[in-house]
Amino acid sequence: MKTIDELIAEGVTGKRVFVRADLNVPLSGTTITDDGRIRAVQPTVEKLVAAGARVVVASHLGRPKGAPDPAFSLAPAAARLGELIGADVAFATDTVGEFARATVAGLGDGQVAVLENLRFNPGETSKDDAERGAFADRLAELADLYVGDGFGAVHRKHASVFDLPARLPHAAGDLIATEVGVLKKLTENVERPYAVVLGGSKVSDKLGVIDHLLERADRILIGGGMAYTFLKAQGHEVGSSLLQEDQIPAVLEYLKRAEDKGVEFVLPVDVVVSETFPDLKAKAPTEHRTVPADAMPAGFIGLDNGPETNKLYASKLADAATVFWNGPMGVFEHPDYAEGTRAVAQALVDSSGFSVVGGGDSAAAVRTLGFDENAFGHISTGGGASLEYLEGKTLPGLAALED
Ligand code: 3PG
Repeated sequence: MKTIDELIAEGVTGKRVFVRADLNVPLSGTTITDDGRIRAVQPTVEKLVAAGARVVVASHLGRPKGAPDPAFSLAPAAARLGELIGADVAFATDTVGEFARATVAGLGDGQVAVLENLRFNPGETSKDDAERGAFADRLAELADLYVGDGFGAVHRKHASVFDLPARLPHAAGDLIATEVGVLKKLTENVERPYAVVLGGSKVSDKLGVIDHLLERADRILIGGGMAYTFLKAQGHEVGSSLLQEDQIPAVLEYLKRAEDKGVEFVLPVDVVVSETFPDLKAKAPTEHRTVPADAMPAGFIGLDNGPETNKLYASKLADAATVFWNGPMGVFEHPDYAEGTRAVAQALVDSSGFSVVGGGDSAAAVRTLGFDENAFGHISTGGGASLEYLEGKTLPGLAALED
């Protein structure tokens, strides 16, 4: 993989450089609630600016349906990028249309433009190679060189991620280089004990990674909505908690394999429950209580790990030399159900081992709960991407940068 420094050394002054970023930031209306992904691509943009390139930044945001939708506009992200780099950032209100062409044509050396959400064009995510290729052809007209730096999207076989680098001389940005370097540490000669904490709502999203980790990790700690499918598989009542009944056979097989292989599989011993799901906007105090995980009352919803579980998980992480964490332990967006997630984050901060927070919700949780990002070994910008990397899959956006 060519590095951005090598690309710059070959000469980028006056060249139009397309930077595929992941500016898929959480928004409340038009307010960015966590700008971590914009800050993550800032060094790459600044390097290109300093080298006199004409920088065209492009990304997706959310999952619009292949047509313009103001709720998913990248305008707020473009404005934030401008604040961060301390320069005007032009914004094109379309992806490959007249505004994009005019905006890019108007760039001077060392100036930056952001294109509108690539997913406003159906070609970006199309499963049809020709349709994706046609969109990539039009994107290629906007640039002379390509830098892949949208780590959070490298697991997507999308036009700007996979097809466009084949059409332009390309290199990997600094964010991708850092992310891949860290994930390599988790897959090659990992330092032991290696503990993995998996949370989030769906077991089905984590099957591949659990399968892979059963061969590699020493301890797997489970929390969040997915824990209830494990508890149910063990024969416990889970009330009205999130449950993927169809995954119970897979979960049972994993529990058995863990036992056979001597991998410690740790499930919550107590949980915080409520009769209703909390209002995440009002965040008003709720009626809730802590119950043993093997005695949840019918009709109640499990919303967080309980205090005994938090202590147990902290003890399992204390002496780990390597920790990978993906997925919150509960509904951390509400203060009544944030303790489980906070406890895992704190355990990572307290541990002297190398800790990696894997993307998406867990990265946002760490920041919204007020932790110092520098207290962690690495906070990945890619949730799905880091999981698929750990599963050992070939990621289209990385493969495209290889040759
Ligand atoms: C993410 O949020 O994980 C990335 O931006 C990818 O988004 P996607 O899951 O909508 O492709």
